[in-house]
Amino acid sequence: MTQAPRTFQPEETTGIAGLSPPYLIHLGCNRTRIPGWLNIDARATDATNLVHDCRDLSIFDDKSTNMVFSNAFFEHLTMHDRAALLRDIHRVLTDDGFLYFCGVPDFETIARSYLERRPGNVSSRFDLFEAYRYTHGDPEHQSEWWMEQLHKTLFDVETLKTLLNEAGFRTHYVYRYAYGKEANAVNLGFMAWKDVRAFSDKDALPIISLFAPLTQPNMERLELGL
Ligand SMILES: C[S@@+](CC[C@H](N)C(=O)[O-])C[C@H]1O[C@@H](n2cnc3c(N)ncnc32)[C@H](O)[C@@H]1O
Repeated sequence: MTQAPRTFQPEETTGIAGLSPPYLIHLGCNRTRIPGWLNIDARATDATNLVHDCRDLSIFDDKSTNMVFSNAFFEHLTMHDRAALLRDIHRVLTDDGFLYFCGVPDFETIARSYLERRPGNVSSRFDLFEAYRYTHGDPEHQSEWWMEQLHKTLFDVETLKTLLNEAGFRTHYVYRYAYGKEANAVNLGFMAWKDVRAFSDKDALPIISLFAPLTQPNMERLELGL
């Protein structure tokens, strides 16, 4: 039997910001809009379709979300808030849904780059200012929203894994990368699922590549599966 074509009823789109679940959520989007996603930031920008404090996911039902993505956002939360957010992301994700965060500064490589006086990412030496850009986010350059711009915590691979475990994610995958042509690979990215599943470098690469236009990892300098 042939099914009748389904007529779209605009009133069905009653979800948050005109989108229906299952949501695709982009946290801390700033001016980067992903079409079809819920692009959220604490400040209204030309990319936001929801202006909201991303620490509060109570607006989302349990298992209402297929994917939560962020780039250069997680380090803007306090230690308490970062742990609480991961727990709440675990709650809102569907059983198959996953979390993908990247652009998280890696304090271990930042410290090494500074101590070893390596070539810098934005200047000739990885000096104290370069370290400060990652540890504190150089908030003075955003005087109107310096508090949102301030980096409030530090990360390394072990800390991320502990946080993900404590939030209930049974599968996680962490990698390190350099942004664009920068000299030092001081950024971490990670993906996480609720259930136990086999996940390897060959599974991670298509996801990293899909988001590469937004996140600009140097694909030749990825350190996979940390
Ligand atoms: C470095 S920018 C991220 C840039 C963007 N994701 C990109 O890839 O271009 C950090 C963003 O996080 C936002 N932010 C910080 N704390 C936030 C919070 N609690 N809720 C929502 N947005 C927040 C800031 O307003 C800022 O736009």
